[in-house]
Amino acid sequence: MSGRHADRSHLKAQPDPYGAEPPSYNQSTGLRWDPRNWTRGVIVGVVVGAVVILVAIVVGAVLGTRANEYPSYSKLAYSLQDTYSGTSFFDNFDYFTGYDPSSGFVHYVDAQVATSTQYNLTYASSSSAVLRVDTTDTNANTGRYSVRISSKKQYNSGLFVFDILNTPYGCSTWPALWLTDPPNWPAHGEIDVVEAVNGATAGNQMTLHTSNGCKMDRKRKETGTVLTKNCWNGTDSNAGCGVQGPQDTYGAALNSNGGGIYAMEWRSDGIRVWLFPRTSIPTDLASGNDASPDPSSWGTALADFPSTDCDISSHFINQSIIANIDLCGTWAGQTSVYNTQDGCPGTCTEFVTSNATAFKTAYWEWASWRVYSAS
Ligand SMILES: *[C@@H]1O[C@H](CO)[C@@H](O)[C@H](O)[C@H]1NC(C)=O
Ligand SMILES: *[C@@H]1O[C@H](CO)[C@@H](O)[C@H](O)[C@H]1NC(C)=O
Ligand SMILES: *[C@@H]1O[C@H](CO)[C@@H](O)[C@H](O)[C@H]1NC(C)=O
Ligand SMILES: *[C@@H]1O[C@H](CO)[C@@H](O)[C@H](O)[C@H]1NC(C)=O
Repeated sequence: MSGRHADRSHLKAQPDPYGAEPPSYNQSTGLRWDPRNWTRGVIVGVVVGAVVILVAIVVGAVLGTRANEYPSYSKLAYSLQDTYSGTSFFDNFDYFTGYDPSSGFVHYVDAQVATSTQYNLTYASSSSAVLRVDTTDTNANTGRYSVRISSKKQYNSGLFVFDILNTPYGCSTWPALWLTDPPNWPAHGEIDVVEAVNGATAGNQMTLHTSNGCKMDRKRKETGTVLTKNCWNGTDSNAGCGVQGPQDTYGAALNSNGGGIYAMEWRSDGIRVWLFPRTSIPTDLASGNDASPDPSSWGTALADFPSTDCDISSHFINQSIIANIDLCGTWAGQTSVYNTQDGCPGTCTEFVTSNATAFKTAYWEWASWRVYSAS
């Protein structure tokens, strides 16, 4: 070092044996990396660059942390609050009779018509409750008779256990088992627990619909396939934030095994849905077992809607449990769905009009519904 310095000392304006490299020294790399030679512009550039990098690191860390945030879902002590079962099953519901809000080719009938011996569209025995579409009218050219029931009781949280013996399916059908507060939609939210269209070979779809400010873009623990992440009805043509289950979570495949239990837990931490096929129902959900069910012992959910980017408590309020079988309408009846995706014949409304016997597979049958609340 000292030798090299001595060699070029004559080039310095002010002799300084231990000073900076002289500006004329032809070793640009050394010059560039020595702050003592930087112009003000370079220094500003370096400082700005450093700040940008620092901000990027902090933002990255915050986003990374956010993406990994996850609710505790700690164990709650659930106790049985309501049981819907037996011959009085349908006494706990209002029958919706208005114009179908989903533009279906359907007439929702009142309790008197539904329970008449002529139609028998809702029927409850000591062992199960059935809700079905009319299979007798061979020229239902203004829409086919069906049923939409809504629980008189409203809920603001809980563990909802639907013991399902048969799910409806078939061309033109759009069945759903869901919760909402119809007059206050979407402000009070909607939780679709079981929903499918037509042949339902794609499996069950679980979906939330909300007002603005509810997204499922953070860490989730679920076995289902994420479809869309923004639950706000103003995005994705009101598709909601959906999760798709595999084929055997609905329709013929689920029914052939005797159905199963769909359990939906709704709490401030989030909303989760599990499906237990008939042969693998956890002991804490077995019928006649009055144990306190413990979702934390059930393993990974089929669908998980955590509260990390959605204030569940403010987006889901005063929900009634609703079960219905719509026909055609804004989902099942769309050409892209009815024909293209699901391979159904002709038009949806023609099918509904004249194919009465095709609706023999279009029925819900439930062993019971149970609602547990956390103490
Ligand atoms: C109504 O439907 C139930 C369930 O399928 C059946 O058991 C019952 O016999 C039917 N009642 C009449 C009057 O058809
Ligand atoms: C979403 O909800 C708002 C508020 O009720 C309503 O005005 C709007 O039409 C809805 N949009 C869709 C696509 O449903
Ligand atoms: C929920 O329902 C209760 C009982 O009908 C009512 O008093 C309350 O105002 C409702 N909550 C909201 C936010 O509308
Ligand atoms: C009635 O159902 C059968 C069997 O799926 C189908 O071939 C036929 O096209 C349907 N009829 C109408 C009018 O949709």
